[in-house]
Amino acid sequence: MDTLHSAKILVLHGPNLNLLGQREPDVYGRLTLEQLNARLQAKAAELGASVECVQTNHEGVMVDTIQAAEGRYDFIVINPAAFTHYSVAVRDALAAVSVPAIEVHLSNIYQREEFRHHSVTAAVTVGQIAGLGAQGYLLALEAACGILNNRS
Ligand code: DQA
Repeated sequence: MDTLHSAKILVLHGPNLNLLGQREPDVYGRLTLEQLNARLQAKAAELGASVECVQTNHEGVMVDTIQAAEGRYDFIVINPAAFTHYSVAVRDALAAVSVPAIEVHLSNIYQREEFRHHSVTAAVTVGQIAGLGAQGYLLALEAACGILNNRS
């Protein structure tokens, strides 16, 4: 990473997030994944960064994508969705790469069912944002650029 202006950020959306907008809108809002990704692109442009958005419903694809981020991206913004709560494989992939990550959840997982209160992935990320809806992703992008800028 040379300067803030060359920051390359991977946004990784986990299972069922392709259904945003129609999926439990009271919990996850009415914004579609396409609209969310468009907001992320606009925010990245504002920050002088570039963003690539990937969504997968498959644990192995998420692991492969995290592994492939090494050397290609400066930061990962990840919503591991259901994998958050049980995927040691996703956690280990995040721990295995030197690319720092921020974990994002649209909903406040701590206000929901007990099984959502624990994240197996959060401990290997820089930090977590939960409960702020789409705004949480935008804040994560800003935080990632701030962290990278402070390092350079
Ligand atoms: C989620 C919360 C998870 O518990 C859930 O499995 C999701 C989405 C969120 O963004 O609030 O799929 O990660």
